[in-house]
Amino acid sequence: MSTSPPLTKPESKEDADYNKICEEHRHLIEIVPKGNGWMEKHLYNYNGFWFHPNYIKNHLLLHIYFKSQPTDIFLASFMKTGTTWLKALMFATINRHRYTLSDHFLLHHGPQGAFPYLDIESYPPTDFTHLPAPRMFATHYPRTLLPPCITSCKFVYICRDPKDVLISKWHFMSNQRSKDLPPFSLDEAFELFCQGISDFGPFWEHVLSYWRASLESPDKILFLKYEEMMKQPEVALRNLAAFMGKPFTAEELEKGVVEKIVELCSFENLSNLEVNKKGVVKFGKVFEVENRLFFRKGEIGDWKNYLSVEMKQRIDEITDEKFKGSGLILES
Ligand code: A3P
Repeated sequence: MSTSPPLTKPESKEDADYNKICEEHRHLIEIVPKGNGWMEKHLYNYNGFWFHPNYIKNHLLLHIYFKSQPTDIFLASFMKTGTTWLKALMFATINRHRYTLSDHFLLHHGPQGAFPYLDIESYPPTDFTHLPAPRMFATHYPRTLLPPCITSCKFVYICRDPKDVLISKWHFMSNQRSKDLPPFSLDEAFELFCQGISDFGPFWEHVLSYWRASLESPDKILFLKYEEMMKQPEVALRNLAAFMGKPFTAEELEKGVVEKIVELCSFENLSNLEVNKKGVVKFGKVFEVENRLFFRKGEIGDWKNYLSVEMKQRIDEITDEKFKGSGLILES
């Protein structure tokens, strides 16, 4: 396990608070249930969800240090559901008067650089006050674990067929997996995923936490589905812009701005950028990921190349059972 150690010589009240959190974190990791990890040896069950230890520590820090602003917009997602795509679309839409399409920020920095993840440990806490409004943040935390100050802000949630999520996550995590561990078979990933044991899982409870909140406050949570967006990206983008308080004007629609942003953020375009072929993104002090790993196939239904009929049936049955009565239907 690699998290930042406590400060050896606390110099301020904040430092002393930080050390208290480190102590609480160390204690939690000892007492909460453990399961097999995908990337590292173990995941830990904290408040009903499975996490790498860093995310538990950051959750404690977040509650103390993060101060939301009413204009903040959050992108929430389970891993591998299309976060990177949404980051690009949200950033390009909000900042469409700031950049020309030929020399766009995204072309040089890629979507990962567009706005920060809340979930990454940083101490002293990162100061986000310099970011222009509306500030945007991404998070993989389930809705039920977010600090109350955040939940009054607007949220965009992206969801995807769990079978494609499983395959995408298995590829991604196998790549990131500690070299000290044996290779990670799809059978093992499948079994763990079905049991809900994967980073930020269970998948179904994660999705339901946002789905239920979106039914209660549709003006605050826009619930999107990857498959619907793939089929009609322009429709999705227009709704997204309106939800974020920046609807496209008649003139913009006339000029084809929606189509241009969709094209800028397409899998084809983003995955072929130099920054996404060769660049690396750092998440806090601990994680480093090659940008290319966020772009694999970008397709609907790749699970058909990996899952047996029985595996498909088992995931579909779990999905039906978990979502029964919720009104949520996912395309598969
Ligand atoms: P696959 O592994 O199925 O190809 P996340 O961004 O949440 O980590 O999700 C990654 C998944 O989204 C990967 O799925 C990736 O290929 C896909 N993806 C990345 N950029 C995309 C884009 N612009 N359009 C559609 N899918 C995209």
